[in-house]
Amino acid sequence: MAGVSVQAFRRQGRRFGAGLVCSEMVSCAGLQHGNERTLGYLRISTDERPLAVQIFGSEPEVMAEAARMVEDAGADLVDVNFGCPVKKVTKTGAGATLLEDPERACGIVAAVAEAVSVPVTVKMRRGLQNGSRSCLELGPRLVEAGAESLTLHPRSARQMYTGEADHSLTTELVSRVDVPVVASGDVTSRARAQAILATTGAAAVMVGRAAQGNPWALREIIEGDAEPPAREEVVAELILFMRATVRELGDKRATGFLKKFYGWYLGRGRFPRPFKQELVQLETLEEVETRLLAAAPGAADLLERLQAEAPEGEDDVVLDLPISIYGGG
Ligand SMILES: Cc1cc2nc3c(=O)[nH]c(=O)nc-3n(C[C@H](O)[C@H](O)[C@H](O)COP(=O)(O)O)c2cc1C
Repeated sequence: MAGVSVQAFRRQGRRFGAGLVCSEMVSCAGLQHGNERTLGYLRISTDERPLAVQIFGSEPEVMAEAARMVEDAGADLVDVNFGCPVKKVTKTGAGATLLEDPERACGIVAAVAEAVSVPVTVKMRRGLQNGSRSCLELGPRLVEAGAESLTLHPRSARQMYTGEADHSLTTELVSRVDVPVVASGDVTSRARAQAILATTGAAAVMVGRAAQGNPWALREIIEGDAEPPAREEVVAELILFMRATVRELGDKRATGFLKKFYGWYLGRGRFPRPFKQELVQLETLEEVETRLLAAAPGAADLLERLQAEAPEGEDDVVLDLPISIYGGG
C-alpha cells in the first residue's frame, strides 16, 4: 500500500505471521532516472523476505529495466501494478488504465518476465468502470504473457475503496487461469478469509487496510487468536514502528508519515479518542513517545524486549549504490 507499506510495516507483518509482504508501488520512471526517494524503496532486509516489490509504469522497456533493478535489490517477486486508480498515475497510461489496454498490458508483462528470473506477478482491479469485467478477459492473456500469479481486488477503479469487493469475479478468474490467484479486498477477519478462500478457490488472501495499525488482525486471520492486544502491547508496537520508520525515512519525513498511524493504532476502542488528537498536535516524535509511555507505563519493558528480538538494519540487503539514498531525504 502506497504511503503505508514501508519496510517497518512489512517487517511487522512478517513478525505477526504474514507469508509474503509487498512493497509500496515503485515508479519505474523514478528508478530509470535514479530518483533518490524512489531508489530508497529498494531497501530490503533479509527478515522481511519473501518480499514482492511492486512497480508501475506504462512503457514495457522501462518497466523491464526497473524489474532488473528490483531483482538486483533482492526482491523475491516482481509485481506489476494494473490497479492503481489515482489520477496522477492513470493519466500517464499506468495503473488501472492498463486493464483496458490489453496489448500494452501484455507487452509490459512479457518484457518484465523476459528481463528477470524471479517470478513476475500482476495486481489488478476488476476494470475501470463500475460493473466492468475486464479483468476476466485480461487475466488469461497476462498468464500467457508470463504472469505466474494474479492478485485481484474486485472493485472498479472508479469505485476507489467504496462499496464492497465483488469476489464472485475472483471465483470466475480462478476458473479461467491455471496459476495461483490471490484474493484482495475486505479481508478483515479469519472468518472472512476462510469464506473467501472456500467460495473463490483462491490460493491465498491479501490483507490491506485491516492490518494498518493492527498487526493483531494478521494473527487472528492466520492463527485464530482473537485476543485483543493490551494497551501496553499497542504502545510498544507503535513506538517500535515509529523508531524503525525514523531510521528508514529520516526524522522529518517520518514525523508527517506517522500521524495517520496514531489513529490506526490507538482507535478501535483501545484509547479514548482525544488521545490521538493530542499526539497529532505534538511537534516532535520524542514528545509523542513520552506521552505514549506515560499512558501505558508497562510498555517500556515490552518495548525493550521487542527491540532485542528484532535488531534493525544489521542485515539489510542493499543495492550497490551510495548509502546516502537509503536514509532520510
Ligand atoms: C492507502 C492504500 C494504498 C494502496 N496502495 C496500493 C499499491 O501501491 N499497490 C496496489 O497494488 N494496491 C494498493 N492498494 C490496494 C490494496 O492493495 C488492496 O487491494 C485494497 O486496499 C483492498 O484490500 P483491503 O480491503 O484488504 O484493504 C492500496 C490501498 C490503500 C488503502
